[in-house]
Amino acid sequence: MNEVLDDPVSQTMIDIHCHVLPETDDGSVSLEESVEMCRMAAADGIKTIVATPHLFDGVHPPPSRDDIRRKIDLVMEASGGVVEIVPGGETRYSHEIFQEARDKHTRIRLNGSSYMLLEFDFMMVPPNIEMTIFQILQAGLTPVIAHPERNARIQLKPEILVGLIERGAYAQIDAGSLLGSFGKECETSVKQILRAGLAHFLASDGHHQDRRRPLLSKAVSIAAEIGGERYAKALVEDNPLALIQDRGIPFQPEPDLAALRGRAKKKAAKSWYAFWR
Ligand SMILES: [Fe+2]
Repeated sequence: MNEVLDDPVSQTMIDIHCHVLPETDDGSVSLEESVEMCRMAAADGIKTIVATPHLFDGVHPPPSRDDIRRKIDLVMEASGGVVEIVPGGETRYSHEIFQEARDKHTRIRLNGSSYMLLEFDFMMVPPNIEMTIFQILQAGLTPVIAHPERNARIQLKPEILVGLIERGAYAQIDAGSLLGSFGKECETSVKQILRAGLAHFLASDGHHQDRRRPLLSKAVSIAAEIGGERYAKALVEDNPLALIQDRGIPFQPEPDLAALRGRAKKKAAKSWYAFWR
């Protein structure tokens, strides 16, 4: 399986968020690009990718379950199976979630499991989100919040994320956030989320072969510096494996709320300074 790689590495990681399917959303634009993304991911040590096209984001028409399956088969065949690709979706918070949740075979499930990837608008957190989390859980699905560190409200008030986790949600951070690709606020926020033990998955959110690439290893090294090797490994191996196998999430750090309070104080002090100067 690794023969096609220039520098074979041991493939141990599972990427639960990647826009690897061709001509589906704002991710891969062609079969060729999808194949290249698979090769890059494999060379980086990724063995499985959950294909997560945008669903119900109001911009891209949501692909059907059959479309997703057909494109996965196409990409896997064209890439020689250098990585395994399993179906999923990145589901935008919307009323369609509840319609979909009633369907046992809904495309919003990651690899057909009871987990779904839930995305919010980047500027706000829906006002009734805690009730929504409860309703999603009642419908038999467990939401994994996609890249909370990129949400402006959560950057300002990370306690919101604590509340969602306390109600049964999990959190997935983006590799690009740790690498500083989305700006300083986002990088500060993701590091704080990690320090506070509020992340359960680290994924590439890969879109293309030349930008927002489907890679994890550099971000894993940064995560290990912040949260330790054990935590970093759990974010890309143990927890994603449990997710795609539809088991309970094995590594769930106790949230360290003191890590959040430290930053909140600093932020408050900074905004007073900004106000008076
Ligand atoms: Fe995404």
